[in-house]
Amino acid sequence: MSSADEDGLQPGYDALAELYAATFPSPFSNTLQRHVIEAFVDHVRGSGVPGTVLDVGCGPGGVTAELAAAGLDVIGADPSTEMVRIARSSHPRLRFVLDDARLRSPELDDIDIAAIVARFSLIHVLPESVPGILHGWATRMRPGGVVLIAGQTTDAGEVVEFDHRVAPAWRWHPDRMAAALADAGFDEEWRTVKRADDSHRFAEFHLLAIRR
Ligand SMILES: C[S@@+](CC[C@H](N)C(=O)[O-])C[C@H]1O[C@@H](n2cnc3c(N)ncnc32)[C@H](O)[C@@H]1O
Repeated sequence: MSSADEDGLQPGYDALAELYAATFPSPFSNTLQRHVIEAFVDHVRGSGVPGTVLDVGCGPGGVTAELAAAGLDVIGADPSTEMVRIARSSHPRLRFVLDDARLRSPELDDIDIAAIVARFSLIHVLPESVPGILHGWATRMRPGGVVLIAGQTTDAGEVVEFDHRVAPAWRWHPDRMAAALADAGFDEEWRTVKRADDSHRFAEFHLLAIRR
């Protein structure tokens, strides 16, 4: 079970979706975030794994659009009906599905998943539910498939809830996320950690892993 409700919907983001999209017209709030997505694209291309990239918790679809512009076949998925509405209207040529990280939508049943990016979306999943979600992804992906996860970090190797303004959220130390990924069948390839700054209260990690 995720922190989205029983139907997988995300009412917190529904209420603030317009504001979110207006506040973050670009999905990248620093240069590193853009470089990480560029590196992810290179990994997906280099993997040779056929299929579609899923942008899990895609929000208004900015990263989905960047991946499409880079030539990847991509679908954005988000449990917020408002986020999906905004993503569809901002990027009418791209495909967006109402779904959460559990990927239960029948629309995704027949999709071969080449790679998954989950930027600042798994932070909203109850920590005890994350291992099951990662296992679910692993069963849908072939060896060589790429996963990129981003979230706020903690200093020690822990997972702690924090006062996110929109929805319940947890900070993960990247070691903990790497361990959860390893248990699910993904080997860490690399990670980045960007320190906190004036506009980011917490350090942020990106972690790229490969389906073994
Ligand atoms: C901070 S926004 C990030 C949006 C986008 N990934 C980006 O990086 O710009 C978090 C997004 O996660 C979505 N979300 C919340 N709970 C989720 C869940 N259980 N599974 C997948 N996405 C979720 C929200 O609806 C929201 O659009």
